[in-house]
Amino acid sequence: MDHNLPDAYTVRAAIALAVRAPSVHNSQPWAWRFTGRTVELRADPHRQLRNADPDGRDLLVSCGCALHHFTVAAAAMGWAAQVHRLPDPAEPELLARVTLVPHETRDGDIALAAAIPRRRSDRRRFADRPLLVRDEVYLRKSAADQDAALQIVDDAPRLSALTKAAAEAGGLHRADPGYTIELAAWSGRRYSPDGVPAQNAVSARTVGQELRVRDFADAGLVDGEGHDGAVLTVLSTAGDTPLDRLRAGEAASAVLLTATRLNLVSCVYTEPFELTSTRALVRDCVLAGRGEPQLVVRVGYLPEGAAPLPATPRRPLGEVVHPPAHPYGAGLPVPAQLRGR
Ligand SMILES: Cc1cc2nc3c(=O)[nH]c(=O)nc-3n(C[C@H](O)[C@H](O)[C@H](O)COP(=O)(O)O)c2cc1C
Repeated sequence: MDHNLPDAYTVRAAIALAVRAPSVHNSQPWAWRFTGRTVELRADPHRQLRNADPDGRDLLVSCGCALHHFTVAAAAMGWAAQVHRLPDPAEPELLARVTLVPHETRDGDIALAAAIPRRRSDRRRFADRPLLVRDEVYLRKSAADQDAALQIVDDAPRLSALTKAAAEAGGLHRADPGYTIELAAWSGRRYSPDGVPAQNAVSARTVGQELRVRDFADAGLVDGEGHDGAVLTVLSTAGDTPLDRLRAGEAASAVLLTATRLNLVSCVYTEPFELTSTRALVRDCVLAGRGEPQLVVRVGYLPEGAAPLPATPRRPLGEVVHPPAHPYGAGLPVPAQLRGR
C-alpha cells in the first residue's frame, strides 16, 4: 500500500460529502471517477437544463460547487487537493483532475467540512438583522480566495436595479412555455433523489416585490410574515469563460460553507443571470461594469424560533461514482465476481 495515495474508501467518503453541494434545480450534473491516483470530475451534459440554462453556465457553476466541496472534505480527511482545471481541451466535459497529497488537517479544515451536512438553501424570509462586520470580511475573503468578488448590495439604486433584473427575468421565464415545463418537471418533488422538493420551496407569489425566490412548482414551505431582512450579495468573476464559471462555483461553495460555519443561513439565486438582457442590467447597474455577475447569494439569520429545514435528497453515490469502491482498496484489480455490479 502506498501511503502517499488515498484509499478508495477515503475518496468515496470525500465524494459523498462533495455531492451535498448545491446545484441548479438540484440537478446534480456531475460524474466522478477515481483512477487510483487521481480523481476526475466530469460535467453530465444530460442533466443540463436546456431552457433555464441554455449556455451551460449554471451547470458549470454547480460542478464548481461540488469541486470545492470535495477539496474541503479531502482536507478534513488529511489530503490536500492539487486541482488541474479543464486539463484536456479535447474533452471539455472533463472539468478537473485532482491529485491528493498527504496534508496535516487543521481545525479550520474540520470546521469547514462540518458545515457541509448542515448547509441548506433556505428560501424563507430572514430576520431583520445586519451582518457583523467580521462576518462580512470572512465572506468576502472566502470569495476572493477563489478568484471571485463578493459585493454587498445595500444601497437603494443598486438594490432597485437588482430587483428590476429579477422581476424582468421572472416575467420572461413565465412567458416561456419551455422554461415553465422544465421547471415543473424539476420542482414540487416528493420522494425524489433529484429536483427541488416541495417542502424546501416557498411560493414566489407570496413574496411580492422582494428579490428572493424562483417560482418553483407546488411550493410547500410555509414562510414567516413581514419584511425579508436578508443581506443581498452578488458574486462575480473577472471574465465569463468556462474556467470563470467553474471558479464562480468554487467561490459560491466557499461563501456558503463559510456562512454556515458562522451560523448564518443562505441561498443562491441565479435567474437574472440566465438571460442576456437581465445579466447585462446587473453587470452595468449593480457592478458598474466591473466583472461578470454569476450568482446572487442571500445571507442572514433565521427569525427567532424558525426550525431548520430538512436536507434536500441526493442521487445514490453509485450513480455518480465510477468505478464503485471495492474492498481491496485503490489500484488493485476488481475481482471478477464484483465487476459489472
Ligand atoms: C448554479 C446554481 C443556481 C441556483 N439557482 C437557484 C435559484 O435561482 N433559486 C433558488 O431558490 N435556488 C437556487 N439554487 C439552489 C438549488 O436549488 C439547491 O442547491 C438545490 O435545490 C439543493 O438544495 P440544497 O442547496 O438545500 O442542498 C441554485 C444552486 C446553484 C448551484
